[in-house]
Amino acid sequence: MGRVALVGAGPGHPDLLTMRAARLLGEADVIVYDRLVGPQILELARPRAQRIYVGKSTANHVLPQKEISALLVRLALDGKRVVRLKGGDPFIFGRGAEEIEMLAVHGIPFEVVPGITAAAGIAAYAGIPLTHRDIAHSVTLVTGHLQDETADLDWPALARPGQTLVVYMGLLGLPVICRELVAHGMPATTAAAVVQHGTLPTQRVITGTLADLAERTADARLVAPTLIIIGEVVRLCGTLDWFQPDVISEVAAAWPESRPVIA
Ligand SMILES: C[S@@+](CC[C@H](N)C(=O)[O-])C[C@H]1O[C@@H](n2cnc3c(N)ncnc32)[C@H](O)[C@@H]1O
Repeated sequence: MGRVALVGAGPGHPDLLTMRAARLLGEADVIVYDRLVGPQILELARPRAQRIYVGKSTANHVLPQKEISALLVRLALDGKRVVRLKGGDPFIFGRGAEEIEMLAVHGIPFEVVPGITAAAGIAAYAGIPLTHRDIAHSVTLVTGHLQDETADLDWPALARPGQTLVVYMGLLGLPVICRELVAHGMPATTAAAVVQHGTLPTQRVITGTLADLAERTADARLVAPTLIIIGEVVRLCGTLDWFQPDVISEVAAAWPESRPVIA
């Protein structure tokens, strides 16, 4: 019997991996990884380790979720030490629970290694504190992957003052998100930002307000992955944006767009 480690790879920069993640990567027989895991992180695996890409993009579902879970079970029953590597933290919009549920059903030993979630990593690298004693007392993480345009989110709660909203997977829905927040009472002057490729050399931060962020973002032609941060804390990035993307230009910029599945 092998074992599976469900490992968070952090937001992109390899130095943001946990030590536990790096150690397990160096010991694994097989790495099963997603689109948001950069090539430099995979280099920490043993050269002989098998690498299996199961990533998804909006348009291109490489391997359905059930098959990913079945693959993990099969590999572990084969006696392999498997690292299931996912971007950010596996339990935050990562479907990590679904994958380990199947392992539990089959009695396969597993562990979960937390990662720096996009909200924490990207806010730090964009110079945007998610909470601030004078400005925001809570943070809400939501998915912007809207099923029917507006109905999915609790807009009245999200529009309340004194908080910061972080929207994952929200680029396509950005105009709707800004419009609904304003319609539910958030001032159109509220500061907001979209961050592309946070923590990587290709990081770009577009700031604005709920009134103009969607237009500014469209003009900037940002590409996924992007994270939206909404709240007055965004104004602080003018003075706190310490990160100069070029300083770490040794880190490969490319996100693996699509890779063959080696099952
Ligand atoms: C399926 S969710 C996975 C989130 C992940 N489990 C985490 O904890 O960060 C993918 C979304 O995370 C956000 N994201 C992840 N890494 C990012 C990065 N480096 N820059 C900007 N957004 C990122 C984007 O909104 C992307 O669409």
